[in-house]
Amino acid sequence: MRQTQQKKSGSMIDVHAHILPGVDDGARDFAETSRLLRFSISQGFGAVIATPHGSRGNGGAGIEKLAELTELARQEIQKEHPDFELYLGQETRYHEELPQKLREGKACTMAGSRYVLVEFETGDGYSRLLGGIRALSLAGFLPVLAHVERYGCLRQDERLEGLAEMGCVFQMNYGSLQGSCLSPRVRWCRRQVCEGRIQLLGTDMHRTDYRPPDTAKAMRWLEKNVREELVEAMTRKNALHMIRDEGMD
Ligand SMILES: [Fe+2]
Repeated sequence: MRQTQQKKSGSMIDVHAHILPGVDDGARDFAETSRLLRFSISQGFGAVIATPHGSRGNGGAGIEKLAELTELARQEIQKEHPDFELYLGQETRYHEELPQKLREGKACTMAGSRYVLVEFETGDGYSRLLGGIRALSLAGFLPVLAHVERYGCLRQDERLEGLAEMGCVFQMNYGSLQGSCLSPRVRWCRRQVCEGRIQLLGTDMHRTDYRPPDTAKAMRWLEKNVREELVEAMTRKNALHMIRDEGMD
C-alpha cells in the first residue's frame, strides 16, 4: 500500500531530523547517520533536511561545521542512493537575538530559504510564542513552529489561527499521530491534520534506538483517514515549496 502511494506521489521529504553526527542529542557518529538515512529511504523518503538543535550559545563557526558535516553525509549516502538529497537546516530555540543571528548567518534557515524551524520551551505561554513568531515574520523570515503538538498553550484551536495570521506554518511529528484514539493528545493531533491546520510532517528522528524515522503506523492512519492531496502536501509538496522558498499550499 505504501509503495502504491509513493509511486503516485513521489518521494516524501523529511523536514525535521537530528542526523548530523556528534552535534546534538541525535546521531552519535557517521555510521549512525548512514543507518538513519537508509532507514528513511526504506520508509519512502527521497530527501531530508538535517535540523540540528541551535540555541543562543551556537556561534557562526558552528554553522560552517554543520555545512561540512552535511556535505560529508550527503556524499556518503549518495554513493548508494545517488538521487537522495540532503539539505542543511536547523531547529532553532527562540530567543530575542534569533532574527539578528539568522541575518548574520550565525543561525540556519531551512535549506537556505526564508523558512525557519523554530521551537520554544514547552511550558512557554501563548504570548511568548506569538511574540517570537511575530518578531521572525517582521524580520522577513517564514516561521515554522516545530512539533506544534508539544505546546499546551496551543490546545485551543483559535490559538493556532492566531499564529497562522502572523505568518506561521506548523510542523507535527509523524509519531504523534499514532497511539490510542482514546488519548486526548492523539485525538487533538489527528483533528488538526484532518482539518488542514498542519502544513508539514517530520520524523524528528534522533537515533536508531531513540525516535528512529518510523512512519509506518502514522502513514497507515493518514492513508485511511485523510484525503490524498492533504497527505501529499504534508509529506512532500510543502517541503518542496520550502526548499524552493515558495509559498505553501
Ligand atoms: Fe527536534
